[in-house]
Amino acid sequence: MEKFIIGNWKMNGTQSLIKTMVESLHKTIEQNSPNAQVVICPPFPYLGLLQKTIEGTAVKAGAQNVYYELSGAYTGEISVNMLTEWGSTYCIIGHSERRSYFGETDELVQKKAVVLLENNITPVICVGETLDQRESGAHEATVVGQLTKALDGISASDLARCIIAYEPVWAIGTGKTASDEQANDMHKVARGKLAELTDESTAKNIPILYGGSVNAKNAASLLSQSDIDGSLVGGASLKPDDFCTIVTSAP
Ligand code: PGA
Repeated sequence: MEKFIIGNWKMNGTQSLIKTMVESLHKTIEQNSPNAQVVICPPFPYLGLLQKTIEGTAVKAGAQNVYYELSGAYTGEISVNMLTEWGSTYCIIGHSERRSYFGETDELVQKKAVVLLENNITPVICVGETLDQRESGAHEATVVGQLTKALDGISASDLARCIIAYEPVWAIGTGKTASDEQANDMHKVARGKLAELTDESTAKNIPILYGGSVNAKNAASLLSQSDIDGSLVGGASLKPDDFCTIVTSAP
């Protein structure tokens, strides 16, 4: 299966980084034909520029958030129609930073997933346990619980159009990556839940990405694990050379 390498810029970047990054990625993809779909998710104000800049390249655009209503009096929010107009074909939802700083719940994540699927934007649904949850042995139950709630009421055929990102909170931006084995084990747990919600062969084809301190050095071994279908990259997705190395690390 083709891997997904998704860059989550968070609240970082500039217009000039959009241009430099797309140029570097385009060159890398042309020269190496990596086995990866590359997506950049910059802050909202850069999506229009990104849409123009990726024209004629294999790079795709994604957003970091969306609201589930289509329009109306929701100051500060962005609708799925706006993402479509901006040429975004992916959207991250339920990132742990949105959950912890902005009160995003599994129920809200579910509503966002539904509206994205209805509008043909691929939801990148993030799940992951905190350090406390891992140390108390609750990591598997936490992730299964998040998936159960976020995917509630979503049909198997719609689920087949989703991407899941497993991002242990203790590994995000900390430089502490989950080991290959820890990550792969959790991906198997998540895939088991997806198989329950769909069936084995559908679940096999739902990409499960790993995120949390992925960098140019550790990407290749993470990406070669049996159940890791790509990575959601934060910090390293702001550095063109590092991000390009991650893209070409996809086996
Ligand atoms: P990081 O972030 O790569 O900087 O750890 C990953 C993410 O939060 O998506």
